[in-house]
Amino acid sequence: MPVISFANSKGGVGKSTSALVLSLVLAKHNSSVTLIDADPNQPLKRWVKRDPDRVPENLHIIPDVNEDTILNAIDEASSKDAFVIIDLEGSKNITVSYAIGRSNLVIIPIQGSQLDADQGVNVIKLIEREKQAFARNINYSILFTRSTVIQARDVTHVRNQLKENEINVLPTELMERSAFRTIFQLGGSIYDLTNKETSNPHKAIENAEAFTNSVVEMLG
Ligand SMILES: Nc1ncnc2c1ncn2[C@@H]1O[C@H](COP(=O)(O)OP(=O)(O)O)[C@@H](O)[C@H]1O
Ligand SMILES: [Mg+2]
Repeated sequence: MPVISFANSKGGVGKSTSALVLSLVLAKHNSSVTLIDADPNQPLKRWVKRDPDRVPENLHIIPDVNEDTILNAIDEASSKDAFVIIDLEGSKNITVSYAIGRSNLVIIPIQGSQLDADQGVNVIKLIEREKQAFARNINYSILFTRSTVIQARDVTHVRNQLKENEINVLPTELMERSAFRTIFQLGGSIYDLTNKETSNPHKAIENAEAFTNSVVEMLG
């Protein structure tokens, strides 16, 4: 039922990765999930093609979604699956606006640079306008991605800025983990990865589950 979009007009911040990771954890815990690939580059369609047999049965990927088809895709999916997750293109266009307008929660990934954060703030402005336009509540939260234990100075600065402006930040961050890259190389789930294929897959799973828990908590 809930619709969760991953949006940031900046490319490479981790939208597709976090959307897929969230979908895989929810599917692993027996929720039915539709994951809509609304990026013309079709990263999720390509992920399916790498190893179609290892796509979980209760995870439905809808590829080739554009501004003409996104509303129907969302409405159809939310009438049948427990979660609808939308991976958006790194730009600002009608598809992005439609998806945000239908979302219960918008997750805005940033890697912590000032550029990522500035683009993230633009998404927040768009969400605020849509809330007003449609007179409905749309929750949103920043997600730090590719986090490392040692924090660069600019990342600390961005964190402080967000705090000062009382912008909601998800308490769990998606850490920099090779497992989150390997799934796009090999196809299949983080739960299928062996120690030979990637380093410390169990650590990635632990992080992915904590991230998923904080998203589910935010949905209430
Ligand atoms: N948590 C992570 N750990 C390791 N690599 C990551 C992580 N998140 C993203 N990446 C890598 O960063 C790059 C951009 O990520 P991607 O999810 O495609 O971003 P976007 O969808 O915002 O363009 C990709 O090469 C991806 O493999
Ligand atoms: Mg992407």
